[in-house]
Amino acid sequence: MHLFIPLLTVVASFATSTAAQDGPVPPQMSLLYSMTALLGDRFSLGPIPTGDERIVIPIVGGSFHGPKMNGESTVLSFGADWRLTDAQGVIRPDARYNIRTNDGTNIYVRTEGYPLPDGRTMLSGKFETGSNGTYAWLNDVVGVGVLRRNGTTAVIIEMWHVGALNVDLSSARANY
Ligand SMILES: *[C@@H]1O[C@H](CO)[C@@H](O)[C@H](O)[C@H]1NC(C)=O
Ligand SMILES: *[C@@H]1O[C@H](CO)[C@@H](O)[C@H](O)[C@H]1NC(C)=O
Repeated sequence: MHLFIPLLTVVASFATSTAAQDGPVPPQMSLLYSMTALLGDRFSLGPIPTGDERIVIPIVGGSFHGPKMNGESTVLSFGADWRLTDAQGVIRPDARYNIRTNDGTNIYVRTEGYPLPDGRTMLSGKFETGSNGTYAWLNDVVGVGVLRRNGTTAVIIEMWHVGALNVDLSSARANY
């Protein structure tokens, strides 16, 4: 018992100092790409069992470029935002579409998000592409995007790679 109490004290103070030194460490982010996506004519499914309204906004083209992407690449006319207005009236984007890098790599993009009070929309992004290709690393990317409208027929999305190592924001900005 006499030995046990000092040991506990040592363990407790060690744990405290470790926590104080390490603390939460925010992940780094680097720009993945900046994209302009062109939108087609939207239509509504009306109210659905899971929400007040499902609106389909076709994605009909566009372009993107980024520091780790090879030149100016293409948003294919092959997807949509099946966005939901939920029971509380909150608009929840749910977009799935395909993009193609200018060296011919096909990438499937999925984003979900929620609107910010200032009119922009926060997105989480996931990517799927050939695991034998140049862009295989995209399969493991945790993406965070910021979307803003550009008129009624286009949106601009800046997509960030969270947790990227060897971040060189100066070159990211230069390419952007
Ligand atoms: C990846 O695999 C597919 C199907 O096997 C093949 O068609 C494609 O050429 C491969 N890509 C590369 C970059 O090796
Ligand atoms: C926004 O839209 C305007 C008008 O169509 C266009 O000139 C401009 O290039 C667009 N901005 C971006 C960043 O795509």
